[in-house]
Amino acid sequence: MTAVRCIAVINQKGGVGKTTIVANLGHALGLAGKRVMVVDLDPQGQLSTSLGIFRPPVHGIDEVLLEQKPLEAVAVHTRENMTLVPAGRRLMEVEHLNDGGTARAWLLDKAMKRDAPEQDFVLFDCPPASGLLSANAVMAADEVLIPVSGDYLALNGVAHLLATLKKFEPIRRRALQQWVVVSRFHTRRRLSREIREKLLKHFPQKVLATPVREVAALAECPAAGRTIFEYRRSSNSAQDFYQLAQDLIERRAI
Ligand SMILES: Nc1ncnc2c1ncn2[C@@H]1O[C@H](COP(=O)(O)OP(=O)(O)OP(=O)(O)O)[C@@H](O)[C@H]1O
Ligand SMILES: [Mg+2]
Repeated sequence: MTAVRCIAVINQKGGVGKTTIVANLGHALGLAGKRVMVVDLDPQGQLSTSLGIFRPPVHGIDEVLLEQKPLEAVAVHTRENMTLVPAGRRLMEVEHLNDGGTARAWLLDKAMKRDAPEQDFVLFDCPPASGLLSANAVMAADEVLIPVSGDYLALNGVAHLLATLKKFEPIRRRALQQWVVVSRFHTRRRLSREIREKLLKHFPQKVLATPVREVAALAECPAAGRTIFEYRRSSNSAQDFYQLAQDLIERRAI
């Protein structure tokens, strides 16, 4: 049996496509026969909504972090091969924990070790902030997946984020594999293409081969509570996520 790959989908910048990627890449991995757990670490709880749960779930990762509940007690089956751990109502309290010193950043890692979920992939959907929840994701993860959207400021942000992640390495005491995924990519926009070129130049061997294109249907999915494979199975977007799942499985970066 191969070890579980825990991947934090992270970027402190908002709206770059983190939740979209966790929901759709998660489903794509499931369709490829991999066992996947997606975890909503954003108190906004949009991952649950994106997967069709419109009433905010009562139980979630908040109870795992605050009360040491087992992961299985709060995980819900959502698609074939795919389980969801919702945010829960009290997740924001974790961001504001004052007691516990540095141990506060290890709560998720401890839970993952304690419960050792039998999965091939665990994806963490991080909030758009570099607070305690994101720190927990980085401590618990083996890899980070950084979505970078096609605007200039996003490019600036990624260098800053990678520098921040570097600071975590001595504390984590193990390497953190970094992946960049070009998200919200406008095929016909020159700026988008330039930014992709810059990413390839500055972060060689880290950029996953397939960019996720900006497609209207993808933005319509959360309101329908469906992934792109349920909403528009033969769209370009569905193809992007099939390919991206393969990139991740085969560690196909350029
Ligand atoms: N490739 C895409 N094509 C079209 N729309 C997209 C794409 N990716 C994301 N969106 C839309 O952009 C918005 C922001 O995306 P998303 O919520 O995934 O970003 P996020 O990084 O999780 O945001 P936040 O930081 O607020 O959690 C959503 O309305 C989403 O539907
Ligand atoms: Mg999000």
